[in-house]
Amino acid sequence: MHTQVIPVGALASDEERAHATARAAKSLCSGELIIFPTETVYGIGADAFQRDAANKIFSAKGRPADNPLIVHISNPEMLARVARAVSPMEQELMDAFWPGPLTLILPKTEAVPFEVTGGLDTVAVRMPQHPIARALIETADVPIAAPSANRSGSPSGTHLAALLEDFKGVVPIVLDAGPAEGGIESTVVKVEADALYILRPGSVTAEMLQEILPLPVRVPDARRAQSSPGTRYPHYAPRAPVFIAKDTNELKSLRDAYGAQGKRVAVLGFEEDTDAFSDVFFFSMGSKNNLSTYAKLLYRHLREADQAGADVILVPAVTEIGLGAALMDRIRKAASA
Ligand code: TXA
Ligand code: MG
Repeated sequence: MHTQVIPVGALASDEERAHATARAAKSLCSGELIIFPTETVYGIGADAFQRDAANKIFSAKGRPADNPLIVHISNPEMLARVARAVSPMEQELMDAFWPGPLTLILPKTEAVPFEVTGGLDTVAVRMPQHPIARALIETADVPIAAPSANRSGSPSGTHLAALLEDFKGVVPIVLDAGPAEGGIESTVVKVEADALYILRPGSVTAEMLQEILPLPVRVPDARRAQSSPGTRYPHYAPRAPVFIAKDTNELKSLRDAYGAQGKRVAVLGFEEDTDAFSDVFFFSMGSKNNLSTYAKLLYRHLREADQAGADVILVPAVTEIGLGAALMDRIRKAASA
């Protein structure tokens, strides 16, 4: 299969974007897969109401069939087509964070095939903010089931080279809007009467959720992990093993130790530490004082460290508050794969 990359970023004209979106929507409605940008990471999408199309996602990604997909919508009417009920608390979260990087677990309607939900009676729903994602959903006039655009287990696709590395020859159309702004996936939340369960942390943080709903926020224990099947599988891992250093000093000692073993070391470090690592592959993650750059570049640099030929990849830990909690979740998974 030929993969056509259609630029829809800042350099494209409004007309080109509209044309590309219309073509992609048509292809999607005919049952094909589309890779499209969102504000978090790229998605690999199919018409959420076509089970055969949804099945193509699982084979393209090599994804286990019981790992459910996120359904992307663009308006409240579409929400009613996929979710059977929305509680007042869920509505408050939607009002506060949609469109945006928040995914809610809701009871599914019959229209959503079990292929999409991995056999569950619930469906993960998100209204993305990216204008291309929204235009694509609006034009197709169907909800789009889309996990992150990466082969299962690999770092999520956030820029064109990663998308082509994983899906060239597999997906007919890639809408390329340039590097994804957020860089890590949406926050996945399940609202229950007694608490908010964060099934996957993201840039909508526990602190932000609690400002809207003053309920206890819980993070998954083993029981919850079962109800969010995706968390059971290895994730975000480049080929080279990843090690987490608690601070710059530990980064240096790990660098020295692996260097002494003759290993090619890559460091994903803060820009403040650039000079300390001039002897290894160094990928700058921006300033210690602004973790949004770390989030934006993490998956890209994990892949680029592989491509540079690194034998080991060292990454610094961050403080687990706000966006730091989501980053540590991803880094730990990358390190434990
Ligand atoms: O930012 C994002 O969320 C991106 C973009 C493309 O929207 N999508 C994404 O999808 O990260 P994916 O498939 O890589 O992650 C979906 C997560 C998985 O951890 C999955 O287990 C969980 O959502 N999930 C989906 N449906 C669920 C359900 N019914 N109950 C519990 N967890 C669910
Ligand atoms: Mg994923």
